[in-house]
Amino acid sequence: MTRTVYLNGDYLPEAEAKVSIFDRGFVMADGVYEVTSVLQGKLLDFPGHLARLSRSLTELGMGNPLSDEEWLAIHRKLVDLNGIDEGIIYLQVTRGNAGDRDFAFPPQDTPQTVVLFTQSKPGLADNPQARTGLRVISVPDLRWSRRDIKTVQLLYPSMAKMEAKAQGADDAWLVEDGFVTEGTSNNTYIVKDGKIITRGLSQDILHGITRASLLRYAAEAQMQIEERPFTIAEAQAADEAFFTSASAFVLPVVEIDGVKLGSGTPGPVATRLRELYLEESLKSAM
Ligand code: PDD
Repeated sequence: MTRTVYLNGDYLPEAEAKVSIFDRGFVMADGVYEVTSVLQGKLLDFPGHLARLSRSLTELGMGNPLSDEEWLAIHRKLVDLNGIDEGIIYLQVTRGNAGDRDFAFPPQDTPQTVVLFTQSKPGLADNPQARTGLRVISVPDLRWSRRDIKTVQLLYPSMAKMEAKAQGADDAWLVEDGFVTEGTSNNTYIVKDGKIITRGLSQDILHGITRASLLRYAAEAQMQIEERPFTIAEAQAADEAFFTSASAFVLPVVEIDGVKLGSGTPGPVATRLRELYLEESLKSAM
């Protein structure tokens, strides 16, 4: 079955969806994106993703090309057309086709480019990595300083991911001024004496939608949470570590820079939080 994607109002076979070489997203990485996960054919944490999209657009001086109802309708239609039971929907909005390359923004009335596509990922909920855990390395965080905006400038996170793979690990945690900011494409946590520790929100990290929901569910379950930065040394000495993102939900980390955490297997808190997130987020899925 050929994949149907969305481009500027049309639903097209993926090979027919074409964007200009002068698109600001292509030449300037001038665009924002969202990734929403799909379980049982339903969208998880959808209002959160729409709210963050709107914020990212505002921070870059771009308007929101569609209403919340229109965004929802497109997501649902793509899920239907592509028969997605488990997977993700990727959404991108750029400042559009400027007609040429120029550092100055094109006129405000330039139509934005809106692209959405699905990725089918059977087994997303029953991910074997949740049972084995992942190994991460640390690398310096060399990204720009507005990581709270979900832009498509993903070169450095890609390079960090490749460095992790080159070292036989699964992912990289980014470190700035001695403290972990976040993972290449996820928010990071450690657990010490039952307490969940994660960096607080600022321009240094992406305000994860999975993070927000998970911390709410954890608080409702009377779990202890402390929002503060932590170092790699503290993480290596922690009882557990894990990360969250829309595509990973909650995944345990069992090794950091070659040092095994505890017994080197996923701990009870991360395992419980994954169950809690899947259970609770499905209740509000739409
Ligand atoms: N990445 N931090 C970064 C740098 C991210 O790229 C992401 C998400 C997160 C987690 O945010 P959320 O819980 O809202 O997915 C944190 C997505 C999944 C991606 O780029 O594929």
